[in-house]
Amino acid sequence: MRRGRLLARALLAALPPGGAGAGGGASWALPHVPLPPRRQLGSGSGMSEEAKRVAAWAAVDNHAKNNQVLGIGSGSTIVPVVHRLAERVKQENLNIVCIPTSFQARQLILQNGLSLSDLDRHPELDVAIDGADEVDSDLSLIKGGGGCLTQEKIVAGYAKCFVVVADYRKNSKNLGDQWKKGIPIEVIPMAYVPVIRAVTRKFGGVAELRMAVRKAGPVVTDNGNFILDWKFDKVHKWNEVNTAIKMIPGVVETGLFINMADVVYFGMEDGSVSAREKLAL
Ligand code: A5P
Repeated sequence: MRRGRLLARALLAALPPGGAGAGGGASWALPHVPLPPRRQLGSGSGMSEEAKRVAAWAAVDNHAKNNQVLGIGSGSTIVPVVHRLAERVKQENLNIVCIPTSFQARQLILQNGLSLSDLDRHPELDVAIDGADEVDSDLSLIKGGGGCLTQEKIVAGYAKCFVVVADYRKNSKNLGDQWKKGIPIEVIPMAYVPVIRAVTRKFGGVAELRMAVRKAGPVVTDNGNFILDWKFDKVHKWNEVNTAIKMIPGVVETGLFINMADVVYFGMEDGSVSAREKLAL
């Protein structure tokens, strides 16, 4: 694991439409990679899908290398990541082993012909690539909109480098500016009521049990647990909140990823990619 080498300062380097890193500012330290051929940007969801795709391309081409163990995140943004990775593995005959963060990620790895492994065989990863629900100016993340936060945090936590891919809608100054669904908290089912009471008594806001959509009753995670969504009512010291919530009996994990991301690639509305990274000391 690697954490201490990160500085608190975050950089924002806007990458021009012609290519990631091509003149995007002196602060841009990652290698140059070309962006994928432009597709019609469209509007609304078409635009955000294209934004995810260009960011995914930049993340894979900057960080995936031969003979790596790679963590594969979950959610919709990871789909173009896996597609680009599979394309490169095939074209360049790369030897890359993938560790999934969910049932969905496992399916994506297998469907795209990538090599599947686990933490038993590969307890240390070179890189983990994942999406996020929101990213603040310190690179703190909210994750778990898809309910996979626990495995995602485990995989990212044992990676030497954690790379996040997001579209422009996830970019915030403070957590909660854009993402209004709250911070996911995975809990042991028998404890969900006392955990709700403990979280809201200590930190305010409202916490709700996440309900399934096409099934009666609550969402059940890949680990057999429940998810609470805690809608906070002010900006907190997230590091302290994360530690305090984790200490509540019955809590498995929170969707606060603090001081974990090394770099975030945002796909922008105009089809360019903007990267924000933490500087090494
Ligand atoms: C899954 O549990 C989440 O952490 C996802 O990584 C996050 O919600 C991003 O999802 P989308 O890529 O679907 O927005």
